[in-house]
Amino acid sequence: MQNKKYKFDVAIVGGLGHVGLPLGIVFADKGLNVCLCDPNQDHADMIKKKKMPFIEYGAEKILKKVLVENKLHISPDNKEISNAKYVVIAIGTPVDEYLNPKTRSFLEFFDSIKSYLSLDQTIIIRSTVYPKTCEQILSRLGKEKNWKIAYCPERIVQGYSIEELNKLPQIVAGLSKEAIESASELFYTISPKIIKTKMGEAELVKLFSNAWRYIQFAVANQFYMISNNFGVDYDKVRYAMREGYERAHSVPGAGFAAGPCLLKDTMQLSAFNSNNFLLGHAAMMVNEGLPNYLVEELKKKHDLTKTSVGILGMAFKAEIDDIRDSLSYKLGKILRFNGTKVYYSDEYAKNPDFVSKEELVKKSDVIIVAVPHSVYKEIAVPKNKEVVDLWNIIKQE
Ligand SMILES: NC(=O)c1ccc[n+]([C@@H]2O[C@H](COP(=O)([O-])OP(=O)(O)OC[C@H]3O[C@@H](n4cnc5c(N)ncnc54)[C@H](O)[C@@H]3O)[C@@H](O)[C@H]2O)c1
Repeated sequence: MQNKKYKFDVAIVGGLGHVGLPLGIVFADKGLNVCLCDPNQDHADMIKKKKMPFIEYGAEKILKKVLVENKLHISPDNKEISNAKYVVIAIGTPVDEYLNPKTRSFLEFFDSIKSYLSLDQTIIIRSTVYPKTCEQILSRLGKEKNWKIAYCPERIVQGYSIEELNKLPQIVAGLSKEAIESASELFYTISPKIIKTKMGEAELVKLFSNAWRYIQFAVANQFYMISNNFGVDYDKVRYAMREGYERAHSVPGAGFAAGPCLLKDTMQLSAFNSNNFLLGHAAMMVNEGLPNYLVEELKKKHDLTKTSVGILGMAFKAEIDDIRDSLSYKLGKILRFNGTKVYYSDEYAKNPDFVSKEELVKKSDVIIVAVPHSVYKEIAVPKNKEVVDLWNIIKQE
């Protein structure tokens, strides 16, 4: 990739976040000169100490290397994007309290950076966006001009970006042929395969992928509730369903389907389709209803005002430290509303109010495994304590 004109090959806005940082590290590892533009001072301080601010397996070693090689730079100021050939946008795109996408703040953000952008640059949207957002960005910047705007959605599994960025095909769409070609040239440096699509196709690929996963998890959670109501262990049903029977291999295990993407993107898709996405809404009711179901089940056996409950795992999924939109907190809230004494523990997410897993086991009458961090396999829980464990990960003795 040739770049003699600009100080940086790539500037990533939102470059210290869960999407931007691993991407920046991987680009820098391929020899590109990268600037991460982000006001998050805590993350910047950690990176300057060559430490990852959150878990991304395999990232810290490469981070150290690219810092030593002087390939990775950090700026709290978005002005630096004027010095980059490629400008990648990886800031958050939240939904509001009614689960509608907050598109306006994302579009207004472009007003704030417009003066640093030029027609020579390629602007790459990496954040997950509501369909047609890229066209609106173009209108905002000035349709009459030849802006190069591409959409290259992120499809990695959080925690495993370093491995997946180098392995997964990259979808590339753009509002002009030049934008598609230029963005493809950048992503060829890291991706084994580029899939060029129309803009609308790429926008739907991203939203459909997350809605698909979310709905699959909902099916598993509904199956779990049906099995449990029937007095049967869903895990054993699932084992027998899948064993030697390929057509059922993709049936997932039950568990909290949470985090910053799956529910949000399913609801964005619903909003885009005039709130006509029955499967998406049904999935939300099932997945978001699982903590309530677990509490209702406990209520059948215990006076919750006289029971202490420990929640093992506060991250939104196993082996990571990210608590964003974790359903463990919802579970804790429902229990506390019922007058229960609740203890929280996590192996990776840190909080002074959390207790160790050993202390949690000691203090709780009921232990709920909310996230199957693999270290929980090592816990031995006394037989007189009740364990709610959808993964059968805990041993009792
Ligand atoms: N986390 C994932 O696994 C994942 C996967 C695919 C897509 N996405 C999408 O990627 C986007 C980013 O998600 P994330 O998980 O990295 O969020 P994040 O909160 O971890 O990171 C966003 C970063 O943007 C920075 N930021 C916010 N406003 C800014 C501004 N005006 N200028 C510069 N920096 C700014 C924040 O300080 C933060 O560091 C979202 O649209 C999300 O839906 C996330």
